[in-house]
Amino acid sequence: MKTLKLVFLLAVSLAGPGSCKHEKEQPADRKMQIFIDDLIRKMTAEEKAGQLSLFTSDWTSTGPSIRNDYIDLIREGKTGGIFNAYTVDFVRSLQKTAVEETRLHIPMLFGFDDIHGHRTIFPVPLAQACTWDTTLIEKVERITAIEATAEGLNWTFAPMVDLARDPRWGRVMEGAGEDTWLGSLIAAARVKGFQGKSLSDSNSVLACVKHFAAYGAPQAGRDYYTVDISDRSLNEWYLPPYRAAVNAGAGSVMTSFNEIAGVPSTSNRWLLTDLLRRNWNFTGFVVTDYGSINELIPHGVAADQEDAAEMSVNAGVDMDMQGSAFLSWLPALVKEGKVSEETLNNAVRRVLEAKYRLGLFDDPYKYCNNKRESEDIMRPEFIAFAREVAAKSCVLLKNDKNTLPLSKAVKTIAVIGPLSDSRADMLGAWAGAGSADSCVTLVEGIRNKTGLSVDILTERGCNITDEEYDGIDRAVAAARQADFVILALGESSSMSGEAASRTDIGLPGMQMKLAEAVIKTGKPTAVVLFNGRPLAIPGLDEISPAILETWFGGTEAGNGIADVLFGDINPSGKLTMTFPLNVGQVPLFYNVKNTGRPINPENPHEKYKSNYLDSPNTPLFPFGYGLSYTTFQYSDIKLTKQSYRHGENIIASADITNTGDRDGEEIVQLYVHDIVGDVTRPVKELKAFKKVMIKKGQTITVAFTVAPEELAYYHQDMSFSYDPGDFEIFIGTNSENVKKASFKIEE
Ligand code: GLC
Repeated sequence: MKTLKLVFLLAVSLAGPGSCKHEKEQPADRKMQIFIDDLIRKMTAEEKAGQLSLFTSDWTSTGPSIRNDYIDLIREGKTGGIFNAYTVDFVRSLQKTAVEETRLHIPMLFGFDDIHGHRTIFPVPLAQACTWDTTLIEKVERITAIEATAEGLNWTFAPMVDLARDPRWGRVMEGAGEDTWLGSLIAAARVKGFQGKSLSDSNSVLACVKHFAAYGAPQAGRDYYTVDISDRSLNEWYLPPYRAAVNAGAGSVMTSFNEIAGVPSTSNRWLLTDLLRRNWNFTGFVVTDYGSINELIPHGVAADQEDAAEMSVNAGVDMDMQGSAFLSWLPALVKEGKVSEETLNNAVRRVLEAKYRLGLFDDPYKYCNNKRESEDIMRPEFIAFAREVAAKSCVLLKNDKNTLPLSKAVKTIAVIGPLSDSRADMLGAWAGAGSADSCVTLVEGIRNKTGLSVDILTERGCNITDEEYDGIDRAVAAARQADFVILALGESSSMSGEAASRTDIGLPGMQMKLAEAVIKTGKPTAVVLFNGRPLAIPGLDEISPAILETWFGGTEAGNGIADVLFGDINPSGKLTMTFPLNVGQVPLFYNVKNTGRPINPENPHEKYKSNYLDSPNTPLFPFGYGLSYTTFQYSDIKLTKQSYRHGENIIASADITNTGDRDGEEIVQLYVHDIVGDVTRPVKELKAFKKVMIKKGQTITVAFTVAPEELAYYHQDMSFSYDPGDFEIFIGTNSENVKKASFKIEE
């Protein structure tokens, strides 16, 4: 058997203090500072307040309030930017108003939520994360930036990097899942994709890392709800992805709606000034989320809008999204000495610097290029790449008796379920300027793949959520006529995203009833899942021969899924968020603490252990899980030595053999457990991975070098360092199915 030696060096961690600094855009140069100082000197307090105000157009609404007088506000110099406005003609007309009709002719920023694509829509970010491919993810954002700038935009409200461990929260679809280290790598890749080589390039957009901070940790998984976590959790788990994005050069940061332990992020001076600016050296600007300055009043920390404006600008907020609080109150607050002239000028400077670095003062219409708009949108190579990403984001959750891939010799396929031909749902939430009309449905993808050689029967079977339509009998009849059945089940795209938390994360409506009836026919059946969050589907898992997780795959969803269903692409995705057995287990994630009464795997119901009377502690599908159409066998771990001197790298390797009948990619994962710490440590932490192609019958050696700094953590005194001592190391195909070895770090 041919053995190929592949040695992979681990990227140095992005998490925690002292992490590597990515080459950031150079700070404003002297010429820029002279220009901006001169401009600030000319500005009145009202014009400064205007620069610090951001309003939505009336093209779409992404929040609870909208002002229709935004064009008047532009004309009166009362806004520094507009969001939710794009196309060259619309942007040019608004920019013309700002540049030609205001006293100081300051150009505007144009922002938009390009969360997973602009016109070409890619799979939702949680799906993309399942590729574990930061190069691919960076390319997604590069294409997004090209399309966004072709339509006049220069700022995207992305990447969303909120760590999320609770699938009840609808916005898990926007992020990278439950792991801090992987989430940090992905955060940096997204920023680099958006901002490209330089912000002055006409196809680069300003990134906006959000939602700072810990928006993904609301109690009960309820959107906008209270976040009350320890400093250690905040620093160890939630902050590193934001820091990785800042280190990658993100030009702006968006404050989150939530409080953290009693202090709303939008008025949190420790967060926005002490940590973000002084400790992390962030030099960009801070924008709030939608009206979150005004929301300090219902939060109960501001008596009125004036109070809210004062505390947020003094905490470190530079720009007020949609709230009009800065516009209404900053001039008076400065006059009353409640906000210093310096604070006001620094905020204005940071916004003007962003505009300068984007090149807007040189050419306010640089993003208004009709030729680019006609050439750079949905280019064939973008569509082809979207199809590739849709396929690579798929996760094969079950495949008993090699039900999949479908043979091309199949004659009749029944595609049954409420998502089988739903075009709009393929986009997912936060689908930017994507159009449902351009999406390929599952049925269309299968038809495109099989041509006229296969009869395709389609039946809705039931609706997604309600019980209004009962087509189960028709669906069963169609299944009986077919050689193979595909069940297209899951959520609608509006069941995840913002303000879309669910207490029941099972299969909604009558879908389970439909699945039972169809599978009972005994026909070979594969479930194709469409969802924006992990679902608790043990019943569906029990009866389904095969399950392919496809999330919301975007413009090319149907074609990408068909590529996997028919085996033209061997699925390689791995979950970055745990699928629980039931919502009662939530939050359930892999890097848990052992507790003083850990469950006994040999006797899970043993009393006086940290377990439930009515449910196992184990998930349905663990973090890092995903099958392939082939199989892989892992050797025991080899360590270059059992004990390492302080400061030495740990080198571990394993031989992985493709024991199946087709080539396949495998995401080899490495986890570490610090057995005795100054504080309790997780039973496993992802510290390295490598996605490798292994040909059938081939064995490769995957070696990892883990720098000791990867083992650092926050001690009781919040110092961040690693300790000598005993460690366990794991290498495997997911966070549960691993080989184990031990090593020591000497004093
Ligand atoms: C929304 C979202 C935020 C988005 C903003 C602008 O409320 O929370 O993610 O960027 O408003 O659309």
